[in-house]
Amino acid sequence: MSVSSTQQIPETGAIPRHVAIIMDGNGRWAKKRMLPRVAGHAKGVDAVRATVETCARAGVQCLTLFAFSSENWRRPVEEVSVLMRLFLTALEKEVALLRKNGIRLRVIGDLSAFDAKLQEMIARGEADTAHCKGMTLVVAANYGGRWDILNATRQMLAVRPDLAANPQAIAESDLAPYLALADQPEPDLFIRTGGEHRVSNFLLWQLAYTEFYFTDCFWPDFGAEELNKAFESFTRRERRFGRTSEQLQSGQVSTHPGSVEVLSS
Ligand code: FPP
Repeated sequence: MSVSSTQQIPETGAIPRHVAIIMDGNGRWAKKRMLPRVAGHAKGVDAVRATVETCARAGVQCLTLFAFSSENWRRPVEEVSVLMRLFLTALEKEVALLRKNGIRLRVIGDLSAFDAKLQEMIARGEADTAHCKGMTLVVAANYGGRWDILNATRQMLAVRPDLAANPQAIAESDLAPYLALADQPEPDLFIRTGGEHRVSNFLLWQLAYTEFYFTDCFWPDFGAEELNKAFESFTRRERRFGRTSEQLQSGQVSTHPGSVEVLSS
């Protein structure tokens, strides 16, 4: 289980342990070049490759990419179909390379909505890289932060029906093990490309104390140079996790709820 940023103060370092990315701007990249939107998605796969490589080299422990949200089904059916095909082709072509580089693949989301062939390829890609000890590459597909929390709640109550009768007894630590990324540290750095400033139902629970970085760069143009700019910005952040700047500088130990008296004026 990873450390919860709301229960404990996590270890932090110059390199983010977990980077989570919303890969936005594929359609606009293509439009700017008078190309169909799907050409942007195809080019986006190259940016995925470059980003995986750069993160792995930098020593990132986990990279989570938002490939398809639970709301992306609302797109034109042809575009959804191309995205599925790209995902399938990427699995067919890239898993061997991930394995060679010690990168473990995991796919999170409600995979039951995907066709049988895609589900089979996902399971095979995960199994073929399960032993890899390097970076974990998480692909979020048909994923939504609200789905994740609901799914975790359902699983928790299936295992612990007693909690339904005693909701006051439910602790964060009861729910957390059932969340999709329970075994990974919470993201240190969230990146969204494409100039929009939204979380779009990504890792709602896990982003509680994540540092946010937004860039106007369209996803197909994203690569090592842009990623290093995000890393540089990250190293300049003061991560306080609810404390004051002065406390951080003096290394003061934090207090706990209930241990502080209200001062009389
Ligand atoms: C958002 O751009 C992008 C997506 C919804 C899909 C991202 C998919 C890939 C990069 C390819 C496949 C991924 C993997 C992991 C193999 P947009 O279409 O919303 O762009 P726009 O905002 O400019 O319209």
